[in-house]
Amino acid sequence: MSEETPRPPRRKRYSGKNPRRFEDKYKEHDPVRYSETVAKVIASGKTPAGSHIPILVNECLAALSLRPGMVGVDATLGYGGHATRILEKISPAGKLIGLDVDPLEFPKTVTRIRAAGYSDECFTAIRSNYAGIAKALAECGLAEVDFVFADLGCSSMQFDDPSRGFSFKTAGPLDMRMNPDRGLSAAEWLAKVSTEN
Ligand SMILES: C[S@@+](CC[C@H](N)C(=O)[O-])C[C@H]1O[C@@H](n2cnc3c(N)ncnc32)[C@H](O)[C@@H]1O
Repeated sequence: MSEETPRPPRRKRYSGKNPRRFEDKYKEHDPVRYSETVAKVIASGKTPAGSHIPILVNECLAALSLRPGMVGVDATLGYGGHATRILEKISPAGKLIGLDVDPLEFPKTVTRIRAAGYSDECFTAIRSNYAGIAKALAECGLAEVDFVFADLGCSSMQFDDPSRGFSFKTAGPLDMRMNPDRGLSAAEWLAKVSTEN
């Protein structure tokens, strides 16, 4: 290697065959590049770090009775697993509005959905609490929709990443906010409440 070409940084060392810490699982964090590793993790019944496997997908799709051309909302976009399957069913000519309050995962999910071939025409992403659904629909010029889907709770990405404060496997700051840009962290809230209120 010449003096002008800097060496790539050395990968962090970890003990054992596979990395255990969330941040060290670099292959699982890059499913496009390391699709084989990711497929192996999924086949072993685990969820790759930094991703989310949607549950009851067929049941949800059947309950929504989706047809091409339908217009609807996924109020909890998450990793976009349900959204992508909904888009498959309502395409062509359908439209999905995707909402999520999480500012860290939301842009990554939008990038994945765009990379799957869903443009602005069929998929509008709005980072919002679902409490703001009426405003979001007004922004899209929609007076009504055919369905609203909500997969309530936390995503695996939020549980997995110790820095989010949701993990029950690994120590991390006591934060627990879906949107860390707003409001008090769990630690701040606990410091100000009393047993009376
Ligand atoms: C169980 S995950 C959804 C997973 C998604 N169905 C998928 O296939 O990847 C729940 C999501 O709801 C989001 N969420 C939780 N409370 C919310 C709220 N009040 N408004 C909008 N999104 C919310 C979380 O940020 C999380 O991404």
